[in-house]
Amino acid sequence: MKITIIGAGNIGSTLARNWAKAGHQIFLGVRKVDGFKEKELLSEGNISIDTIPGAIAKGSVIVLSVPPDAVPSLVKHLEGAKDKIIIDPTNAFRAKPEGFENAFDALRSLTRCKHIVKAFNNTGFENIANPAGLDTFVSGDSEKAKKVVKQLAKDLGFANCYDFGGNDKAALQEQLGMCWINLALVQGMGRDIAINVIKRQPL
Ligand SMILES: NC(=O)c1ccc[n+]([C@@H]2O[C@H](COP(=O)([O-])OP(=O)(O)OC[C@H]3O[C@@H](n4cnc5c(N)ncnc54)[C@H](OP(=O)(O)O)[C@@H]3O)[C@@H](O)[C@H]2O)c1
Repeated sequence: MKITIIGAGNIGSTLARNWAKAGHQIFLGVRKVDGFKEKELLSEGNISIDTIPGAIAKGSVIVLSVPPDAVPSLVKHLEGAKDKIIIDPTNAFRAKPEGFENAFDALRSLTRCKHIVKAFNNTGFENIANPAGLDTFVSGDSEKAKKVVKQLAKDLGFANCYDFGGNDKAALQEQLGMCWINLALVQGMGRDIAINVIKRQPL
C-alpha cells in the first residue's frame, strides 16, 4: 500500500519504519525536505521524503502525525484527497486545533474528505514500535477506511484492532488516548504500560 505520513516525529517515524518493514511504500511529508534530520529512516528502501503536498499526492492513505493544533494548516493540502483514507492519530492533550475540540472534528468540518478515521492514538510510540499482544482501536463512519486500518494495525503487529464505532465515537477514542497519557505520564506508571481489552470466560 502507498502510505503518506505527514510529520516524521515520534509517531510518524515509528509508523513509517514498521510499515516499510511490512512491505508498504512510505512517503514522508515534511516541512523542510533539505534540513531533514531523520536520515536513517531513508535507509529503508521503501521510505522517501517529499514536500507535504508532494507526499499527499502519492499515497492512498494519509496519516497526520502532527500536533493537533497543526492540523488546520494542512487542510489546504487535502483538497485533492477527498477519496483518500485520512488517519488522525492525534490527542489534544496540550493544545487543540483553533475553534475545535479535536483534530477529527476539525478535519470533518474543514475538509471534504469522506474517509477520516481516528486510529493509533491509544498508546505511546514505543508500544506502537513493539505492539505484540497489544490492542488498538479505530473509529469513524467509513467502513472502507476501518477495513484498511485493521489490516495496517495487523501489519504493525498489534494483537487486535477493535472497531470503536462511528464518527460519533472518535472523541471518546481520543479520551482513551488521554487515559493512557494520564496513567503513563501524569500518574507516573511509565510509557511501557498499555490498555487492553480482556475477554473473560463466564463462571
Ligand atoms: N508520542 C506519542 O507516543 C503519541 C502517541 C499517540 C498519539 N500521538 C499523537 O501523534 C501526534 C504526533 O506526536 P509525536 O509525538 O510524533 O510528535 P513530535 O515527535 O513532536 O512530531 C511532530 C511532527 O509534526 C511535524 N509538524 C509540526 N507542526 C507541523 C505543521 N504545521 N505542518 C507539518 N508538520 C508539522 C513536526 O515537524 P518539524 O520537524 O518540521 O517540526 C514533527 O515531525 C500528536 O498529535 C500526538 O498527540 C503521540
